[in-house]
Amino acid sequence: MLNRIAFIVKVRNYLMEKIIERYIKEIITEYPGIAAILDEYKIGCTGCSVGTCKLRDIIEIHGLSEADERALFSKIAAIIFPGQTVAIPKLPRKIAGQANQKKFSPPIKMLVDEHTNIKYVLGAIPGTVQLIKENRPEGLALAKKAIEFIRNYADKFHHAKEEEILFKLFDETTDIIATMNKEHEIGRSHVRAAAGAIDKMDLAGIEEHLTAYAALLAEHIRKEDEVLYPWMDRALTDSQVGILYGKFAEVERAFGDEPERLAAFARTLTDE
Ligand SMILES: [Fe+2]
Ligand SMILES: [Fe+2]
Repeated sequence: MLNRIAFIVKVRNYLMEKIIERYIKEIITEYPGIAAILDEYKIGCTGCSVGTCKLRDIIEIHGLSEADERALFSKIAAIIFPGQTVAIPKLPRKIAGQANQKKFSPPIKMLVDEHTNIKYVLGAIPGTVQLIKENRPEGLALAKKAIEFIRNYADKFHHAKEEEILFKLFDETTDIIATMNKEHEIGRSHVRAAAGAIDKMDLAGIEEHLTAYAALLAEHIRKEDEVLYPWMDRALTDSQVGILYGKFAEVERAFGDEPERLAAFARTLTDE
């Protein structure tokens, strides 16, 4: 029979092993200090609007090295079991490799470049809202142009490539992909609400929904550029990269000159 101390250690190890299966938002609520540790490893879960990822998936998706994974778990263990010894779990990885690649494959690079144009428009939203609050007519005109861009470029053109093509190559029930799809939906509802507020000249509604959309999408793009796309690029085979490129090219052909016209509008909003 196990003595009392050995039994306590066994329970602690079991709880530590189980923590990796728990939802990250839940863990942070219970142990707020863990948020700062995740930030230290650039795992920005605190700003996530959905929060359905498990700790184990977050660590795999961020492609931490084994040494960093161990150091991260040790810091988490020190918060949950301060001053106590606990066995550090090791994750079996579904996708090998670390998040140290700098170069994206050509189709993923296309999506990253589209993000740049989307970010130009997101960056103009605070100024647009300010103009609207000052009752300047150019504010409303700019808001309408921004909504046209978001609907046709960010959503129909860019999100269609993600939702209809790229994400379909992966298990869409994976937490991070489900979160991305959910955020696209939340974004759409803000855009619908902002457009409705413009029709009713509801200035507070325009401000609320455009501002919420800009914050949501800026964080969404950061997660895709820094976490999701590098993870997907590590997982894609050469033949999948080729298929992706071909399918994206079909989308480009179907949309004709429209995306470039909208991208040109986005570029007018930046000094870069
Ligand atoms: Fe997305
Ligand atoms: Fe995206």
